[in-house]
Amino acid sequence: MAHIGHDVLGVDTDPGKVAKLQSGEVPFFEPGIDDIVRDNLTSGRLRFTDSYVEAADFADVHFLTVGTPQSELGFGANLSYIDAAVDTLSPHLNRRALIVGKSTVPVGTAQRLARRMRSIAPAGDDVELAWNPEFLREGFAVRDTLHPDRIVVGVESSHEGRAAKTLAALYSPLSTDDDIPFLITSLATAELAKVAANAFLGTKISFINAISEVCEAASADVTMLAAAIGADKRIGREFLDAGLGFGGGCLPKDIRAFMTRADELGLGDVATFLQIVDNINIRQRSRVIDATREVCGSLDGARVAVLGVAFKPNSDDIRDSPALDVVGQLQLQGAIVSVFDPKAMDNARQVFPTPNYSLSALDACQGADVILILTEWDEFRALQPEELETVTGSKRVVDARNCLDPLCWRAAGWNYRGFGRP
Ligand code: UGA
Repeated sequence: MAHIGHDVLGVDTDPGKVAKLQSGEVPFFEPGIDDIVRDNLTSGRLRFTDSYVEAADFADVHFLTVGTPQSELGFGANLSYIDAAVDTLSPHLNRRALIVGKSTVPVGTAQRLARRMRSIAPAGDDVELAWNPEFLREGFAVRDTLHPDRIVVGVESSHEGRAAKTLAALYSPLSTDDDIPFLITSLATAELAKVAANAFLGTKISFINAISEVCEAASADVTMLAAAIGADKRIGREFLDAGLGFGGGCLPKDIRAFMTRADELGLGDVATFLQIVDNINIRQRSRVIDATREVCGSLDGARVAVLGVAFKPNSDDIRDSPALDVVGQLQLQGAIVSVFDPKAMDNARQVFPTPNYSLSALDACQGADVILILTEWDEFRALQPEELETVTGSKRVVDARNCLDPLCWRAAGWNYRGFGRP
């Protein structure tokens, strides 16, 4: 928002984060974000605070961007952060304001929050709510934000379309380059558009992973199959990479929250469908463990090098990382695990201190009985068999992201195991 010319005040309840951001330090890794934050701090269009009073006084439009993680009690979403943001901001809303939800929420949440805000805010009916879901991917956050595929704006039927007009004006600097569809919907449709998009992406990944099991059983190659079906425009090649499956702070918890909400709405069959998508995804982790055991003979005492623990490349995020889950299971089964990731080492070490954290990929592979590629960083794609042979004598690799060339590794005498490939 600051980059496209608006005056922005970022609010966080954590004064440590606010201080870091105010000094130009972004507390997570995301390509391109540091420069944007620093440039806009310098221009004066961006500031940070932990004061809701200041925020209410400053802004005409308030974006709610807090997390909605999986509840500790089950599969539903934990809405306590978004409830707290609304409850803390609303008493200070003394004049007309537009509140825009970006967080991913179960359908029906926005309607509830709108009622709640208006009952608390001194400005009452002058406070309006819109829901404007976020579709950016980690690792491409800047690009996806500045060049979105679509802008979805869910509005209340009252308030004469004011929210849609305000948001169209806010986003108008974006649409000069691209022809971006601007879809005005109800609050419920906007909430569902977000969870349905993530559920569809997860379904696509679980579909190709299910097919990869069939490929394995029938000696077919899922990567060629993905190219073949993905060439059909109706299907599309993206999100058909079979392997360890999906993780991160979004897809897994959104599918589970959607499942829970579908159940609450009495739609048991829909919930079962989503449950199967989740189950297939989780099963991929066992497939990698089984492949590793097969390649090594036994996991007990096996020295396993794990390359990649971030939930995907170009990210330091280890939330619901399938790779980290595999590391834990390997250790439980007696393996000695050395880990390397270009960006996620600190985050991984904090939540999971027991494996050996190495200084480089080659360091992690030192003396390994088997090498596992669990996140397809470019650095790992570029590894050459000759290079690794100098540190490991065993010549075994399990490529859980199908990111290496099997012919090249086998030609060099390696025991290569891919996913859904003969
Ligand atoms: C996802 C969506 O792609 C975004 O559109 C959405 O805005 C975001 O969640 C969100 O809800 O905030 P993200 O979590 O950054 O974005 O990650 P993805 O790029 O979707 O990847 C998710 C997982 O799927 C990763 O673990 C990745 O390794 C895995 N994946 C992806 C596969 O296993 N196979 C594929 O073919 C593609």
